[in-house]
This record gives sequence, structure tokens and C-alpha cells, in this order.
Amino acid sequence: MMMSKFNWRVRELIFALVRPLFHLGIRATSHVTGKLRPLDESGSPVVLTRGEREEVPPRRLWVGYLGTSEEYLAEGRADMEAVVSLLAAKGISHPRVALDLGCAAGRMTRHFPRTEESEIWGADISAPHIFWCQRNLPELNFVTVSTAPHLPFADNYFDFVFCASVFTHITDLADAWLLEIRRVLKPQGHLYATVQDKVSAEEMRTTYADVLVPSTIAQLKRLERKHAVSRADCEMFYFDNDPSSRVFYDRDYITRKWSKWMDVVAYEERFYHFQSAMLLRKSASA
Ligand SMILES: C[S@@+](CC[C@H](N)C(=O)[O-])C[C@H]1O[C@@H](n2cnc3c(N)ncnc32)[C@H](O)[C@@H]1O
Repeated sequence: MMMSKFNWRVRELIFALVRPLFHLGIRATSHVTGKLRPLDESGSPVVLTRGEREEVPPRRLWVGYLGTSEEYLAEGRADMEAVVSLLAAKGISHPRVALDLGCAAGRMTRHFPRTEESEIWGADISAPHIFWCQRNLPELNFVTVSTAPHLPFADNYFDFVFCASVFTHITDLADAWLLEIRRVLKPQGHLYATVQDKVSAEEMRTTYADVLVPSTIAQLKRLERKHAVSRADCEMFYFDNDPSSRVFYDRDYITRKWSKWMDVVAYEERFYHFQSAMLLRKSASA
């Protein structure tokens, strides 16, 4: 049956009114498996035009890092150097094929020391970040992924995967992500992953209270008041939804749990600012 012009208009009007709510709903449920951050979250058409290469991403892509452009670059370099030094300190030879999972705008990826043989990848659920990287860091490889624990790489592909401040935002699917990373690592390949633990929570409430988002500090203080999380015998606590959640583990709990699937080579407290770093190795037989 043909709809009258009037009915179409009414339908269009209802759609126009409801569409923002619909997109708000999508954003609010971005933790649901498979949701990524599209280039345009409002659902408007996207037109990509050729642009000048930029040295530093626009501030809205800095994922919370503060300071000047020089500081943004210097801090990314220092964070990358710390990871490379940790590998060297553990006698691990410099990786040839590496993945920065949760790379954002390549803040650390771009500083990964490389040779002609290197193959460096960055992946993130945020299409705007990956698009910026693809356009501005063409010597590296970047791919958009989703929150579903799947990576578009073959088994045993990487020598090294690093996730700086990424498992800190993954709640229910953390183990599935660990196993997916293990799949793409070569036997005896390594994973560097930062986590938040009780030491991190204490650091955030004190030393970092002035530099972190006030709502994060407020949530932490509320959890402490209500559940005394720093003293309670809790294995994990978190607030908010993926990919913006804040996840905290008990050190023994996460070490015990993940050591079922990978060898724990190191656990360094306060390694990545207030976060602790875990270095894990895929066993030769896995
Ligand atoms: C706090 S930022 C850290 C960015 C970067 N690693 C750094 O240190 O500069 C966390 C990043 O992880 C990404 N992320 C969150 N969950 C993810 C997932 N399941 N897979 C891939 N990236 C994810 C976010 O989109 C965000 O860019």
C-alpha cells in the first residue's frame, strides 16, 4: 500500500526526533560486544578529504593525556622506552613483529624502535584514532578492531604484543582477550599489559588525584567509603562500562589466574604511572 506524502512527512519527523536518542543509546551501550567507535558517532554521512600530514594528533585524540604537544610526544617516547628497557632487562631480544593493542593515536607505537625488518602494527576500537594513524604514520600499520575478543591476524604472528592502559578498561572479556592475544603470539612471544591493582587505586586517590578526571576519583573514594576496597579481601572491582570502565585487580588474584594460560615473567608495580605492568610469555608448547 502506498504511503501518503503526509504520512511520510510524519514518519520522517518522528525519525528525526528519535534519531539522537537512538545514537545516544548506541554510545551508552558501546560496551556491548562488537561495538567500536565509528568515525562519526552521530550517524551523519562521513566524507574523507585528503589533508596535510600532521606531526601531532588533535587534542581530542589524546585520550586524557595532558600538556603541550612536545610533552605528548616526549611522554609517549618515555613510556615506550620503559617497555623496551623492561624487555632488555629480562634478556628478551628486540621483537621484530609487534602489535600495540589499544594504540589510540599511536602515542607509543610511533616510538617503537624499528629496523628495515620490523613490522609494527597498532589496533584500536576507535576508528577516528586509527584513521588519524593511517593517514599520518604511514610507515606503520594500523587496523580498527571491535570490542569482541578477536584480532584479524593469523595464529603465531607476533613476537610481542603490548597493551598500555587497555586491560584497565576491559571487564568481563579480559580473559577472552588474553587468550586471543596468546593465539596471535608466537610460541615464547611476550605480552606487556598494564593493570590497575590496589597500589594503583591508592596512588590515584592520593598522588594523581589532581590530574585524573574528578569523576574517576569520586567513584574510587565512594568505593572505598562503601566497601573499603583497599582493605577488603576482594579479587577485582570496577566501575563504569567498557570501554570506559576502570578495572582493579588484587595482584595475587590476577597473577594466579593468568599464569594458568601464560608464564608470568614480571610484575612491576607503578611501572606505567600509577598502573602496574605484567610481562607474560606464551609457552613453547601452547
Ligand atoms: C587509555 S587509552 C591508552 C592508549 C595507548 N595505549 C597509550 O598508552 O597511549 C586506552 C585505549 O584502549 C582502547 N581500547 C579499549 N578497549 C579496547 C579493546 N577491547 N580493544 C582494543 N582497544 C581498546 C581505547 O579505545 C583507547 O584508545
